[in-house]
Amino acid sequence: MRRRDFIGNTIIGTCGASLGAVGLLTKSCRGANDKVVLGLIGSGGRGLANGLNCCDMNSNVEIKSVCDVDDLRSEKAVKEINKKLGYLPEATRNMKEILDDPDIDAVYISTPDHWHALATILACQAGKDVYLEKTPTACVWEGKKMIEAEKRYKRVVQVGLQNRSGNYNNEARDYILGGKLGQIMHINIFNLMGGKKWQPLPDEKIPDTLDWDAWLGPAPYRPYNPGAHKGWHYFRDFSPGLMNDASHQLDLTRMVLGDPLHPESIYCWGGNHVYNSESEVPEIQNITYDYKEFAINCLSGNAAKYMSKTPNDIRMDQNRFPLWNTNATRIEIYGTGGVMYLGRQGGGWQVFGPGGEILAQSGGIHSELDHHVNFIECIKNRKRPNSTLEQAHLSASLVHFANIAYHTGNKQLLLDPDNEQFIDNDEANKLLKKHYRNNYAIPEKV
Ligand SMILES: NC(=O)c1ccc[n+]([C@@H]2O[C@H](COP(=O)([O-])OP(=O)(O)OC[C@H]3O[C@@H](n4cnc5c(N)ncnc54)[C@H](O)[C@@H]3O)[C@@H](O)[C@H]2O)c1
Repeated sequence: MRRRDFIGNTIIGTCGASLGAVGLLTKSCRGANDKVVLGLIGSGGRGLANGLNCCDMNSNVEIKSVCDVDDLRSEKAVKEINKKLGYLPEATRNMKEILDDPDIDAVYISTPDHWHALATILACQAGKDVYLEKTPTACVWEGKKMIEAEKRYKRVVQVGLQNRSGNYNNEARDYILGGKLGQIMHINIFNLMGGKKWQPLPDEKIPDTLDWDAWLGPAPYRPYNPGAHKGWHYFRDFSPGLMNDASHQLDLTRMVLGDPLHPESIYCWGGNHVYNSESEVPEIQNITYDYKEFAINCLSGNAAKYMSKTPNDIRMDQNRFPLWNTNATRIEIYGTGGVMYLGRQGGGWQVFGPGGEILAQSGGIHSELDHHVNFIECIKNRKRPNSTLEQAHLSASLVHFANIAYHTGNKQLLLDPDNEQFIDNDEANKLLKKHYRNNYAIPEKV
């Protein structure tokens, strides 16, 4: 249920007196009814939606500042927030202004993925709680540093893997862990979208409205390119590629299986075999994760136009299920007693036995909004959020392992799970950590 509380027409950005008052109230805010003050870091499509959804679902939450290195994005966000919430937040290009602001309790980090680790560590060091978008890390090493920072500065970090806030997913986990599906032997994960050939664009002059150096941040320098700016998912320095989206299903699969640790080996086939795109990230990938007692297979790509994500009306309907055979994001869990079809972001789950008989089922509502409620509750009660950094790191590592296997030549990689290192494979081990530009390096000691 929606609980929007309009905050009125206070023009926060221009009213020093109001700001002071808000600050005094929020600095000590930890009671159930106290105000939580937010800063948005990254205000593109996702960042703005996150801020608005959070304010929509929780009473007494306010967005004080919006930070985006792209003025066009922050201008749009400020206007939308004024339209929807009735006040004007401050706008800045520099996240430090948000991190140094004692009035701000928590930040939403919705930048492209290459900024996630550094922004999270800086926010923890500044004493802010964090809602961090997926994919939470750009490489395996970053996950360890982020967990260290979260623990050291005692912060709440909720990762935007929102399926973990879905009740129907808890029920699926209880069903599986209760042994009702029998012994689990195999899982098929699908992330099969439609798409088209990707072609590079020429570099251009940096627009005046953009701080390109800050947009690049920890990633290697490259001249401004509109294709990279708007289509960063197709560049290895900024994204794990199409696997960014598959991270939802990988995480949900781990959750319903009781959160297994790392697999023993990873094999990835893939390439630009469909459209012959010139992108650095493959159009299609087929990955096998070997967990000894069972295997997970993940098929990710953009060449299946006949597949579609669960439609919005079904995502919000407790009583209807997706058409599983063309569902682009389904998870199939094979046990000795039946097969479970599980939907991501709503869609529920059904268990089928011999002859297609339905043995059990539960409808499911998309848990996006509940995830923001859980975040604000955890800020107040200091409990662990539904999507912890520890689990998100393990799930994101599956994305990175797959890409490392692909980029080292579709090789099967053997993993030493305790040390998070590949066995006898220096080439692959080098890819567990990124190289950072001096001004944006992630510190060894957080
Ligand atoms: N959980 C989900 O279901 C879900 C859905 C969509 C996107 N996402 C994630 O959300 C994130 C953002 O995705 P998007 O589609 O909004 O991308 P986007 O490119 O539209 O927006 C990112 C914004 O971050 C800004 N930015 C870049 N560097 C910055 C910096 N140093 N400081 C402040 N702002 C900076 C950019 O200018 C841009 O406006 C990604 O990590 C994506 O994977 C998650």
